[in-house]
Amino acid sequence: MAGDRGDPRGGDREPRPDRAPGSLDGAALEAAVAALRAGQLVILPTETVYGLAGDAGDAAAVARIYEAKGRPSFNPLIAHVADAEAAGRIAVVDDRARALMQAFWPGPLTLVLPVRDTAAVSDLARAGLDTVAVRAPAHPLAHALLAAFGGAVAAPSANRSGRPSPTTYADAVAETGFAAAAALDGGPCAVGLESTVVSLLDGPARLLRPGAVTRAQIEALIGPLAEAEADAKRSPGRLARHYAPAAPVRLDAMAPEPGEAFLAFGPAPASPMTLNLSPSADLREAAANLFAMLRRADALKPTAIAVAAIPDTGLGEAINDRLRRAAGFVG
Ligand code: TXA
Ligand code: MG
Repeated sequence: MAGDRGDPRGGDREPRPDRAPGSLDGAALEAAVAALRAGQLVILPTETVYGLAGDAGDAAAVARIYEAKGRPSFNPLIAHVADAEAAGRIAVVDDRARALMQAFWPGPLTLVLPVRDTAAVSDLARAGLDTVAVRAPAHPLAHALLAAFGGAVAAPSANRSGRPSPTTYADAVAETGFAAAAALDGGPCAVGLESTVVSLLDGPARLLRPGAVTRAQIEALIGPLAEAEADAKRSPGRLARHYAPAAPVRLDAMAPEPGEAFLAFGPAPASPMTLNLSPSADLREAAANLFAMLRRADALKPTAIAVAAIPDTGLGEAINDRLRRAAGFVG
C-alpha cells in the first residue's frame, strides 16, 4: 500500500520508484485534484505535518475527514489556500493579518479571522463558528495542489484523533490512508510540528498554538500577543489531551529509569532504548524528529518515555507545548 502513491488503497496506478519523494509527479497531482473535486480525501504533505485533505466547501467530504480521524466535530479545521489572495476571498483580512501573511506565507502560520465566504468553507469545517482558520503551506506539492484545485482545502493533521501528527508519508498512510482516494508522497516534513495558530479577531491578537513561526517573530511585527482565551468557542482544540503516545511520558528527565525509553537532547550515551532528538542540541532538528521519535519510542513498549529537558526559547516553546500535551497536561 505505501508504495502506491497515487492510490493508497492499491488501485490501478503504477508505483513510481524512479521519482524522489516531494518531486512534482503530474499524474499523481492530477489524481489528487480529481479526488478533491469528487468529494474524496487526499493524504497531503505539508512542511509542518501530513494532512488529511478534502474540499472545505463540501460538507460530506468534511464529514468523512472527521469520521476517519475519529475527531469530535466541535473542533474546527484549517482552510488551506494557495496564497494571500485566495485567503482574502474566504476571510476578512485586516492590516495585522496582511503584515503576517507578507512576512510568513507561504509557511507554517495559521491565522484565525472572521469568515467572509461561508459556502467556500462549510459550517461543518468551521464547527459552526463565524471565524475561519486560514493557512498557505510552503511545501511545493501542497502549493501545487491548492493552486490547481483553486478552492479552500480543509486538512487536519492526518493522525487519528489524539495521536501524534504524522511527519512521514508512511506514518500518514498508516494512520488515515484507509479513508483517502489519493496520496501524495512529499518526503519527511521539514518542520515536524503543526503550524503556529494566531487568532486575529476583535481585541488583542492571541497565540492559540505555538509553532515554528515563533512568538518573538510575530510580536516583532504586530506587538504583544495575548494568551488563548478560556472560552472554548474562541480557542477550540486547547481542551483535549493531544499527541499522546500509548506509554506515559515523563518530562525533564536527566536519565532513563530501567524499562524506560529515553528521548535525549544534546550529547547522551547510546543505548537500545535511547533516541536522540538532536545530538547537537539544535531545536530545529529536535522539532523535525519529535513525533517520529515519540512513535518509535512507543513501539519499544517501554514502561514510560522519559524526555530530556528542552529549553523554552524560540522553537522550544512549541516543542514543550507538544510534550506537555503528550504527557497529559492540558495546554
Ligand atoms: O500544520 C498544520 O496546521 C497542519 C497541516 C496539515 O496544515 N494542520 C493541523 O490541523 O494541525 P489540525 O486540525 O490538527 O489543527 C488545527 C487547529 C486546532 O487546534 C483547531 O482547534 C484550530 O486549529 N482552529 C481551527 N479553526 C479554528 C477557529 N475558527 N478558531 C480557533 N481555532 C481554530
Ligand atoms: Mg491535529
